[in-house]
Amino acid sequence: MKHLSQENAPIMEALNRYKSMRVVPFDVPGHKRGRGNKELAAFLGEQCLSVDVNSMKPLDNLSHPVSIIREAEELAAEAFGAKHAFFMVNGTTSAVQAMVMTACKAGEKIILPRNVHRSAINALVLSGAIPVYVNPGVNNQLGIPLGMSVIDVEKAIRENPDAKAILINNPTYYGICSDLKRLTDLAHKHGMLVLVDEAHGTHFYFHHDLPASAMSVGADMASVSMHKSGGSLTQSSFLLINNEISEGYTRQIINLTQTTSGSYLLLSSLDISRKNLALHGNEIFTKVAEMAEYTRREINKIGGYYAFSKELINGDTIYDFDITKLSVHTLDIGLAGIEVYDLLRDEYDIQIEFGDLGNILGYISVGDRKLDLERLVAALAEIKRRYSKDKTDLMNHEYINPEVVLTPQSAFYVPKTTIPLDESAGRICSESVMCYPPGIPILAPGERITEEIISYIQYAKAKGCFLTGTEDKEVNNINVVKEEE
Ligand SMILES: Cc1ncc(COP(=O)(O)O)c(C=O)c1O
Repeated sequence: MKHLSQENAPIMEALNRYKSMRVVPFDVPGHKRGRGNKELAAFLGEQCLSVDVNSMKPLDNLSHPVSIIREAEELAAEAFGAKHAFFMVNGTTSAVQAMVMTACKAGEKIILPRNVHRSAINALVLSGAIPVYVNPGVNNQLGIPLGMSVIDVEKAIRENPDAKAILINNPTYYGICSDLKRLTDLAHKHGMLVLVDEAHGTHFYFHHDLPASAMSVGADMASVSMHKSGGSLTQSSFLLINNEISEGYTRQIINLTQTTSGSYLLLSSLDISRKNLALHGNEIFTKVAEMAEYTRREINKIGGYYAFSKELINGDTIYDFDITKLSVHTLDIGLAGIEVYDLLRDEYDIQIEFGDLGNILGYISVGDRKLDLERLVAALAEIKRRYSKDKTDLMNHEYINPEVVLTPQSAFYVPKTTIPLDESAGRICSESVMCYPPGIPILAPGERITEEIISYIQYAKAKGCFLTGTEDKEVNNINVVKEEE
């Protein structure tokens, strides 16, 4: 590689060189730098469309990078302390799928907590890997699933010594971290790979006061959503690898599903954001953490709400907490998180990241201003004053331990039938059902449906959660495995 530093952004620099060459395009995309689609150019801006270009020699090729994309990947690897970083243009979903498919073939086991994102469950459908779920436990007061306890993972490893990998959330959507270092050492001692979903943990790489990152503890692979806390464009992510993971084989796995027309808008946004974090990350996340801490204190002063933080740490299932996350428990004012989420948007024009049955999550970033934080706090105070209710009719359990009857892949592909959700207790589900966000399946393919799960889904629906995953758009019916006649 040429001698490059974190000050460089090779993809952006190559696009700038390319623009100055005034090349006449007889290639795709057909909008030809926006000239062929005036409305689109006016909407997105000509600058933007002038770099929406196709792969070509001077701009390298995402599926087999040998020049500027490769240089950008090497700079990203250096910034994140990884052996190699892959630029991903189909979100962290594709990175999670590539991790699982690189580590496990059909019929091989993977140990994972059940509160994984749908992308991990879908990776099991694609790969045919067999899940060994570890119950992440739940904080009953908050109704949130936690991290994996070391003892539970030890037990899962003892009972499944043939498992190929373990997958860990770092952190969960709410900001909760497992003991990543101990879990990594434990898995490695038993010859298993460690795959880490860091969709919500990009910033861990750039600030010493935040929880440990996957690469810093020696994990083998990590999926990092640069487009979340890293500041790049939506859908752009990194897949990091370490240790003995083969770069060439991982790239082949990525290329099984990744587009052959990688967007240079997304690629350059990754490159520029990596540069920004490498040069200014510490300062950026100090500011973000301060803003989150300030807002948390102000929300807790209102009373009724509980904006939780490091006081939850218990040395195991809550080994660490990401203080940049503004997770707020709402049930004590008699409103489900999703109700507060809807009120904030509909009555106060404030859009937060998500609301579930018991909590809301505000995403704080360097783009926030003190003024906006004050507005959120004021709106929450007013919501309490105007809308708070008696909390007696609220459901407060979030985690239901699943009975896994079939692997996700076999349940998804066996003959199935559609029946009303309310009549499905006892049957084996053959699709996923989840509230989105956070996108953690309430039911995954292969799991037994119970009355408790049906009531949970009905309740989430009644409270206004956006339910997805089923073939039926209304989520009144569910696909179940066909029983023998
Ligand atoms: C924990 C977790 N993993 C993976 C993903 C997938 O990320 P993306 O939307 O970039 O595909 C998400 C998305 O929210 C997530 O929350």
